[in-house]
Amino acid sequence: MTQHDYRFLRACRREPVDKTPVWFMRQAGRYMPEYRAIRTNNTLLDICAQPELAAEVTLQPVNALDIDAAIIFADILLPLVPMGIQLRFAKGEGPVIDNPVRTAADVDALKVLDPEEATPTTLEAISIVSRELEGKMPLIGFAGGPFTVASYMIEGGSSRNYLHMKGLMYGEPEVWDRLMTKLSDMTARYLLGQIRAGAAAVQIFDSWAGALSPHDYRQRVMPYVQQIVDAIKPTGVPTIVFGTSTAGLLSTYSELGTDVVGADWRIDLDTAWDLIGPDRAIQGNLDPALLFGPREELDQQVQRILGEASGRPGHIFNLGHGILPETPVDNVRFVAERVHELTAK
Ligand code: CP3
Repeated sequence: MTQHDYRFLRACRREPVDKTPVWFMRQAGRYMPEYRAIRTNNTLLDICAQPELAAEVTLQPVNALDIDAAIIFADILLPLVPMGIQLRFAKGEGPVIDNPVRTAADVDALKVLDPEEATPTTLEAISIVSRELEGKMPLIGFAGGPFTVASYMIEGGSSRNYLHMKGLMYGEPEVWDRLMTKLSDMTARYLLGQIRAGAAAVQIFDSWAGALSPHDYRQRVMPYVQQIVDAIKPTGVPTIVFGTSTAGLLSTYSELGTDVVGADWRIDLDTAWDLIGPDRAIQGNLDPALLFGPREELDQQVQRILGEASGRPGHIFNLGHGILPETPVDNVRFVAERVHELTAK
């Protein structure tokens, strides 16, 4: 089988498939006992610093679940470290950045390097996994969208209202432009490096873009995401853009020209597909909370979503956001098998 015949890549191109492909955002992680076993002796950053270990964790869900794509184990914030950002993951708090970017001088100090120099271990993990999966399934590479990444850089961690970031965006548009230009430059180079290393598709996690009005997204964020999408386009590698709370943004997203647009669960899949248009594939959109059961409700909601897709080519089954930490593995396994069973031609 050539790489181009994989069910997942066919769906990205809206070609007919034998079964609807399925994978899960955050499919490697704490809900898996195999991952927790590795995490007892290694931090997230330790795992990412060791290509063999990152490759092993990437393959854990591939071995445990009937899925159609792997996603490289890394984090959207890792490429900030070689830019000069001091990143750590604090227990119970999530990511913490000790030197948040707040001023023009902070922005100017950020370094943009080639990924072979900046993030060699992630590229090495991608080479290992893509060799390992040759003939079995494609490997998805990813990066954070510039708005989402900037939110952590500027706020210094997770945020509810993004007041520092929006203050900079609205108050100092010229500094904002310099920061977003650096981030989109770094991100385009990073994704191209992942593609050279073997990634067969790439997803942009624009996760928090739904915090903006569509007007402001278009004016102050979209041009930078567009630069990333345009840089990937000549490679022919399928692109996916995903964010949460994006019901108001989906038609704008579709103008970016990615092959696939992700939808979260706050919108029905058929409504979402109407908004992004028939010339794009769609990825989504089960509420991750449904993976906690009950099984019968979960089954019905899987069927509902497949009903909304109604067998149109170009549906990639996924969640509306990442798998949550305490999720029962059996329910994740059930969904993957059920999607295949219900859509088998
Ligand atoms: O999907 C996968 O299996 C690949 C790995 C992956 C991770 N992070 C590993 C990770 C991916 C695709 C991400 C993306 C990511 N990281 C996003 C975008 C997706 C989304 O959820 O919207 C964001 C916003 C981040 C930033 C981040 N990393 C946060 C906010 C946190 C802490 C909260 C949390 O979920 O734990 C992380 C840590 C993180 N990244 C973990 C994993 C497996 C948990 C680390 C641990 O083992 O303790």
